[in-house]
Amino acid sequence: AQIAVFVSGEARGSNMQALLDACMEQRIKGEVRVVIGTRAEAPALTRAREAGVAVHVVSPKKYEGQEEAYAHALLRLLRRYEINLVCLAGYLLRLPAPIVAAYSYRVLNIHPALLPLFGGKGMYGRRVHEAVIESGMKVTGCTVHFVDNDYDTGPILVQRAIPVFDEDTPETLAARLLPEEHRAYVEAVDIRTSRWLCVKGRRVLVYDPFK
Ligand code: GRF
Repeated sequence: AQIAVFVSGEARGSNMQALLDACMEQRIKGEVRVVIGTRAEAPALTRAREAGVAVHVVSPKKYEGQEEAYAHALLRLLRRYEINLVCLAGYLLRLPAPIVAAYSYRVLNIHPALLPLFGGKGMYGRRVHEAVIESGMKVTGCTVHFVDNDYDTGPILVQRAIPVFDEDTPETLAARLLPEEHRAYVEAVDIRTSRWLCVKGRRVLVYDPFK
């Protein structure tokens, strides 16, 4: 796959790095061709540059009120780099609908909880882990799913679970989950790019193998 990774301003880029490493070590058949950020200062973008990957900033602020123009700026970049798989890794906005339409079942996202629990608009970062602890649940985890036009609702591809301990804080939970996120994302890209899929629950058949 020819991959683009999308990150927001706050992203550290550890999931992006996991994908870069997996490509480099040929654990997934792919190449990260471009990393697209929403803000120039994102630590993830520095990391991407250091890894020799092309970096572009497309600021949604600049396109405020013009979602279509924002979408087209992104689509132009995706075409220019001949992208056939988009991986959201700490991209906190809703992906514009034209991109979801153009990349049907070719956009993945990672969420730091076991969806459909603890997802939705505004549920990201520390807030997710706070809600998990508050709920009293004894397990949590991460989810890699296809992106549709809503927040965290698309068909699920991979989940990995970890225990929640009584002494856990949002920070300890997030830290213990992160390596599982990296494994889950690499596994999800491998699954999506190496075989035909039947996504159960939603009765979706993806007959769209990668060359
Ligand atoms: C991860 O926790 C991911 O689940 C969420 O944003 C965070 C990004 O972390 N969507 P990183 O930038 O990949 O380290």
